Amino acid sequence: VSSTIDDYDYLYKVALIGDSGVGKTNLLSRYSKNEFILDYKCTIGVEFAARSIHVDDKVVKAQVWDTAGQERYRPITSAYYRGAVGAIVVYDITRYATYQNIEHWLKELRDYADPSIVVMLVGNKADLGHLRAITTDDAKAFAERENFFFMEASARDALNVENAFTQLLTQIY
Ligand code: GTP
Repeated sequence: VSSTIDDYDYLYKVALIGDSGVGKTNLLSRYSKNEFILDYKCTIGVEFAARSIHVDDKVVKAQVWDTAGQERYRPITSAYYRGAVGAIVVYDITRYATYQNIEHWLKELRDYADPSIVVMLVGNKADLGHLRAITTDDAKAFAERENFFFMEASARDALNVENAFTQLLTQIY
């Protein structure tokens, strides 16, 4: 059997959202390239990366969209969510404001995304436990109420990054 590396059975668009600086770009670069970037460079516009995984005997390709957390660098919102079947909503476990602001991101999902979109809540920067501002239990309870999947992760330490994407993709599949 011959196949090219770009063969896949399913293509899923996943939108990464959350406040500026929570680590969206780094979660994506860890997932797609196994890289971490120490310097902060805000995303301008939209970036994409893709990675395929096997689910059962099928190849599922995730096309992940990453956009700026800062409003002024964000392109047209409706285009960002169009066709997305999954969303990863990211907050930073060391900054309470980024957790409070999840409401804002959920409102965008309600306004622009398909109602059947599968949502994964990710508390990033779990490596900074000594600076924690949101308990795991609070976030877990919140996610359960909203029917979201939930994980704490660290793009820096490569903790749960792969897990979060795999769980989301498996659920969509
Ligand atoms: P915008 O593009 O402005 O929306 O930001 P973003 O959410 O894409 O954040 P980005 O990935 O650029 O990361 C912001 C800063 O947090 C960078 O300095 C990263 O090095 C740092 N960072 C990201 N993930 C982690 C992590 O898991 N642990 C730690 N300690 N730092 C992280």
